[in-house]
Amino acid sequence: MSDGGTVGTAVTRVDAEDKATGRALYVDDLRFAGMLHAALVFPGCASGRLVGIDASAALDVPGVRAVLTADDVPGENQVGVVDSDQPLLPKDTIRYTGDAAAIVVADSPALAREGARAVRPQIEELPGVFDAVRAMEPDAPKVHEGGNVFLHYKVRKGDVDAGFAEADIIVERTFRTHHQEHAYLEPLGAIAVPGDDGSITIYGTMQSPYYVQKAVATVLGVPLSRVRVIQTVTGGGFGGKEDVPSEIAACAAVAARKIGRPVKLVYSREEDFYRSSKRHPMVVTYKLGATRDGRFTAAEIRIVADAGAYSTLTPVVVFRATAHATGPYEIPNVRTDAYGVYTNRQTTGAFRGFGQPQTIFANESVVDEVADTLGIDPIEIRLLNALAVGKRTATNQLLEESVGLPETLALARERSGWDERRREFVSDTGAIRRGIGVGSIYYGVSLGAKGLALDGSGAVVNVYRDGSVRIAIGGTEMGQGLLTVLTQIAADALGVSIEAIHIDHVDTSVVPDSGPSVASRTTLMSGNAIIDAAEKLKARMGAVAADVLGVDPADVRFGAGRVGGRGRDLAFDELAAECWARNVNTAAEGWYAAPLSTFDENGQGDAYAVYSYATQIAEVEVDTRTGRVRLVRITAAHDVGRILNPVTLEGQIQGGVLQGAGMALYEKMVTDGGEILTPDFSTYILPTSLDVPEIGTVFVEAPYSKGPFGAKGIGETPAMPGAAAIANAVAHATGIRFHELPLTAEAVLLALSEGRHR
Ligand code: MTE
Ligand code: MOS
Repeated sequence: MSDGGTVGTAVTRVDAEDKATGRALYVDDLRFAGMLHAALVFPGCASGRLVGIDASAALDVPGVRAVLTADDVPGENQVGVVDSDQPLLPKDTIRYTGDAAAIVVADSPALAREGARAVRPQIEELPGVFDAVRAMEPDAPKVHEGGNVFLHYKVRKGDVDAGFAEADIIVERTFRTHHQEHAYLEPLGAIAVPGDDGSITIYGTMQSPYYVQKAVATVLGVPLSRVRVIQTVTGGGFGGKEDVPSEIAACAAVAARKIGRPVKLVYSREEDFYRSSKRHPMVVTYKLGATRDGRFTAAEIRIVADAGAYSTLTPVVVFRATAHATGPYEIPNVRTDAYGVYTNRQTTGAFRGFGQPQTIFANESVVDEVADTLGIDPIEIRLLNALAVGKRTATNQLLEESVGLPETLALARERSGWDERRREFVSDTGAIRRGIGVGSIYYGVSLGAKGLALDGSGAVVNVYRDGSVRIAIGGTEMGQGLLTVLTQIAADALGVSIEAIHIDHVDTSVVPDSGPSVASRTTLMSGNAIIDAAEKLKARMGAVAADVLGVDPADVRFGAGRVGGRGRDLAFDELAAECWARNVNTAAEGWYAAPLSTFDENGQGDAYAVYSYATQIAEVEVDTRTGRVRLVRITAAHDVGRILNPVTLEGQIQGGVLQGAGMALYEKMVTDGGEILTPDFSTYILPTSLDVPEIGTVFVEAPYSKGPFGAKGIGETPAMPGAAAIANAVAHATGIRFHELPLTAEAVLLALSEGRHR
């Protein structure tokens, strides 16, 4: 590989100017001739039998063109991404308040909504179930006929009973986590444009264009080749746009196909709250045994995940939670049971960390409690048990390379002033109590053993005769900085400047199915696909250069905009022109497939090819008069494999830290039955710029041999340890261990008033 020298440097985001000046076009900015607008009809209840739909009043609204129901779906009425349990438009059963009873199409968004309000779905209400633990009881109302527990994953490693028998101390606690809203800036939206040849083109905000393609082809009953999906500039996803865009695009597609005109469907924030997925609420029971000197001997874990009305991505989320449930420690004996359970609540799916932030809150709280009881420093006990090269995970995977966890612990300890603060803060006696707490994590990058069929990615690299390069990829930019780091990878792989490269958003008609842009896989997968294409191009173009220069092709190198060897070279753009003149193909397709991973019926195997690691240390101030927790500082130490761009990396850390703080302290989706009482940003409280703590980032580079330039995925890890670290810091400050999130002022004050603090 030739080195252009941009990898590792703070290249300016390639999309910065478009986004800062407003030139970037989001889906709601796009218009097509004859375009109509759609709105969905909400059922107004969470559980019931749909016996009919009275559309007459809606059709009387001037400008309303059509009211579409399940009978208007020409293909299969199904959008379930893993399990086929989710109709696009329910035919006879309403399972949650976000189910779409019908689609109204009109001349404007306002008229479509007016029409939607006038539609009368006739529903016989049935009792619902709104708690996953309750839903597991045999007499609970059934959300689907097959029963509410639809998923059980397990891990069986070693002999757990013997492991607990060896332990000097055992701590067992149950933790509860809550719904978290993705709160991306741009709500969900899609436009379907029918072609005159029976094909359809979808534009939309999304993470997984190939999922959208599949869903639209299914509901229309047409081959994949008739569905083209173009990702528009995407204003955040955080997992919330992995599968959910398939639903909205399929609604727009059904309407466009029926009426024969382009149809746009964009949710308001409130509609988005009802229709989008959330982070899974989980009930996690974590039991950990340790010897007197702090060595972990056994762990037993039970996870109940509230999937909501449909399974959507729950199998993927619960798989990840199961595989990583012990936390980043070597524990010889492990028994984990995890369940996915239907309720009549909002669907829950992918959210930055994929089920792990919930289990991390549990395991990192218990690790701290074990350390406290044994009188061992929390960082010491983590270092003692931490995964490292040569150690084995809960799935008995031997870690052979790129394990930077111990360094993240050591560096976070040093940079945060842990040792002094840990000692000093406990002597606080005033109204404000300070605390410092730690959370460590690991994260299997890419899809792992439950996503093998999806785990390849493509790229098409096209060198024009003036030496400029246009690249099509299968991974999506959603704000994380992907286009920038891929531009750097392409520039260095071809040995050209950043300015020579242009990368497009995904168009499914150009690049083969590259799977979803999730699981922090995109830099790794699309990056390696670009490198693969670049290698093919360099072989072909290098042969021409060798011929022109009269040198051996084996001596030809690409770098700094020039190509050559043995003291002779020519400019890359001259070489491109020469290739064109000789009819040499200067476009190449690249591909990267993830290494095989495994997970057997006992949950044993190499679950993921590689893991990223992180330790975050949180410093808080708790006001004992109000219960308010102020997050003062986060020290975030992350093993990233290799730094591709320090500024985009820092950006990922800052955003992730704030998302973790939101989960820990503020964000609370209040519901009553299936009703959301906080469906907007004035009642669902997000952290703002005023809540940003001081953030100290530390990068550890433990290169991954199969990563592009040694890099591995880091998109999600910044959001993962925060809630656990903050809860541990609050426990340090107050002496109170919380077993439920979020730690709102109300919850903290209540606990303090119960006299539970030191
Ligand atoms: N950063 C921004 N700004 N916006 C996002 O939507 N999504 C996160 C993370 N960082 C997200 C983000 C999630 S959930 C994932 S999986 C990764 O980015 C996806 O991008 P990557 O594969 O390039 O890391
Ligand atoms: Mo991220 S939850 O994997 O989209």
